[in-house]
Amino acid sequence: MSRSPVRTAVFPIAGQGTRFLPATKAIPKEMLPVVDKPLLQYAVEEALAAGIERMVFVTARGKGAMEDHFDIAAELAASLQAKGKTAELALINDARLLPGSILSVRQQEPLGLGHAVWCARHVIGNDAFAVLLPDELLWSPANPALAEMHTAYSRVGGNLISVLEVPEDHTHRYGIVTPGQVDGLITEVKSLVEKPKPGTAPSRLAVIGRYILQPEVIALLAEGTRGAGGEIQLTDAMAQLIGVQPFHALTFTGERFDCGDKAGHITANIALALERPDIGPSVREWLATRNLG
Ligand code: G1P
Repeated sequence: MSRSPVRTAVFPIAGQGTRFLPATKAIPKEMLPVVDKPLLQYAVEEALAAGIERMVFVTARGKGAMEDHFDIAAELAASLQAKGKTAELALINDARLLPGSILSVRQQEPLGLGHAVWCARHVIGNDAFAVLLPDELLWSPANPALAEMHTAYSRVGGNLISVLEVPEDHTHRYGIVTPGQVDGLITEVKSLVEKPKPGTAPSRLAVIGRYILQPEVIALLAEGTRGAGGEIQLTDAMAQLIGVQPFHALTFTGERFDCGDKAGHITANIALALERPDIGPSVREWLATRNLG
């Protein structure tokens, strides 16, 4: 089983963002900012920190802003340059990627996360690849999540997913792991279930949107079997690899914000704002006036 470095990452970003309407009526959910950076940029930076070279955007009609965000904005750059706004110029240059590093494919119909990953099959080819769900903001600036996974992957190989314990009454929202042997932060995965009905989850260990997968998962996705919510679920295809290939979970040790959820998104904004030297003090001051905690 290959453990060679993972160089391709898939970003399933074709969703309609219905949980964030009306904000997402004309802009993609992945472009919603946390403080001043879109969610997608956090995920792309996390991928870069893990040595990813090819970013595969699985996108949909009307979501061109996401590719534009990582392009050169020549007019804006020239105007900032002319005005001597070097700090702002640096910010837009930071969001640029090397030419040719974004490959974009369309998911024509919203048939599920598994279907989105399958849509990237021609770019994935025969190598292990990563998947990042940008609405899961995994905040760990010193040890970015995918880089940590990459290190663990070089040890265990096979398939590796990032997990975290969630409250019992949230398990129905996530893919949930049946844990096997535990070795530090690495847990053997015995089985996986997507969005178990309340009260039926095998554990509280939830899949939190980061995956390193072997290419064999694509053939399983190609079968197009419908699972939870009538969708083609990545979790169901991954579950079929358990016992056939090594399958482990790495517990994430940073701070996780489920920004697909309004409360999670607001919390992420507050937490990251408080860490910022420029705006943190005034946000903290305002929070103090609300007599919190
Ligand atoms: C997806 C996955 C699920 C995972 C979750 C993480 O669900 O299918 O296994 O736990 O992301 O956010 P979604 O939130 O797209 O319904």
